[in-house]
Amino acid sequence: MKKDSIKKPWSGRFKEKTAKSVEEFTESISFDHELFSYDIMGSVAHTEMLHEQSIITENEAFEIAAGLKEILLELDSRDSKNFEFDKAIEDIHMYIEAELIKKYPDAGKKLHTARSRNDQVALDLRLYLMDVIEFGVIPRIITFQKTLIEIAKTNIDTIMPGYTHMQRAQPVTLAHHLLAYVEMFERDKERYKDALKRIDTLPLGACALAGTTLNINRNTAAKRLDFSRISGNSIDAVSDRDFVIEFISNSSILMMHMSRMAEELVLWSTKEFSFIEIDDAYTTGSSIMPQKKNPDVAELIRGKTGRVYGALVSILTTMKALPLAYNRDMQEDKEPLFDVVKTIIKVLNIINEMFPHIRFNNERLRKTAAEGFSLATDLAEYLVTKKMPFREAHEITGNIVKYCIGKSMDLHELTIEEFKKFSDLIDNDIYSRLTVEASVKGRKSFGGTGEVEEQIERLREKLDKNWTEE
Ligand code: ARG
Repeated sequence: MKKDSIKKPWSGRFKEKTAKSVEEFTESISFDHELFSYDIMGSVAHTEMLHEQSIITENEAFEIAAGLKEILLELDSRDSKNFEFDKAIEDIHMYIEAELIKKYPDAGKKLHTARSRNDQVALDLRLYLMDVIEFGVIPRIITFQKTLIEIAKTNIDTIMPGYTHMQRAQPVTLAHHLLAYVEMFERDKERYKDALKRIDTLPLGACALAGTTLNINRNTAAKRLDFSRISGNSIDAVSDRDFVIEFISNSSILMMHMSRMAEELVLWSTKEFSFIEIDDAYTTGSSIMPQKKNPDVAELIRGKTGRVYGALVSILTTMKALPLAYNRDMQEDKEPLFDVVKTIIKVLNIINEMFPHIRFNNERLRKTAAEGFSLATDLAEYLVTKKMPFREAHEITGNIVKYCIGKSMDLHELTIEEFKKFSDLIDNDIYSRLTVEASVKGRKSFGGTGEVEEQIERLREKLDKNWTEE
């Protein structure tokens, strides 16, 4: 199409043509074309409703639907044809309408009856996000959770140091540590599901902001598009982007969790830790240092968290203090949103693919778990079982640790006589308690490192339940 042949649908009121620079500055078609299939889906439902309400004829409805279908097919195959949108057409909504009018001039001009781009764009975004959450994000999170659970199952007896303040604290199992992430991702998933409840509201029929004098039926449009409810206030329906903010906010939390996991993978693959080795195929080298094998995938997951947080600040700032109802500022919602969607899908894909290629160095994990007086709490709790108040037990154990440090010994290396100098309550049965295995097995409190098999069962049950059924 030649550039100057585009006639704007809103040109009636204007004497002059839009400046090229303004077209360039205000267009959104270079990015909102992503929404084309949702836009067409919405238009088809709108058309059927218009016909049902006798606002357009059956033949008009038929022609519009047929034209939209043709446009859908054309847009679907455009990638293979190096297709480029003309920016003069402004956005995907106007593009589709203009194409339809070219195909069916009389019927096509009726599509935009009782509708505005303001409710149309809100509808498109909602349809898009429902799809992204239901078919893009949630299944990938579930796959990852299942991978982590499978790895946990084979590592119920793999003992590793648990940390607080980045200092070795108490022995835990690798299974327990991995399941902590499964729990986080479970909450992330719940947050997306919860957001879905609010996204699932049809804004169509709000029109520009005030509704319409025409006899539309918003409920039948909602039914056709599978929305559970319709928006209650037309001004709110076209002004609201909090559902976009919520999605990006949930994605920020997901990425925050991902970044913590990624950080651990980076640390664990250092020579200093040597807890894991990532298969060659999932690492990269250095252009100067021949010996290097870098955990770039994990680093980039950690790094990409920044752009998702950036998108959150961007959309919050765009929406801040915007007077009601629609303002063109809101067009700025799409690029950060699309970037977030692409980023989290990429991250979920690569982590799903990479995780099974991580090998854990079980010997090293166990050895490190035993060092650094990680069984001190076990000794204190032993004294508690002998009826000593915990505060006293803590103090005495602290003294024993101090004594051991002076002698460069570990707790289990003390003789019973040495132990008894600190407390008469310590007997020979202490030695069987001072192993990392006993420590881990003993922590049977609900959620503790000693009841990991039960945790796996609980999580599997939760995951097996179809998430939409809840
Ligand atoms: N391209 C616009 C957006 O993304 C669509 C809505 C424009 N509405 C208007 N009245 N200019 O927000």
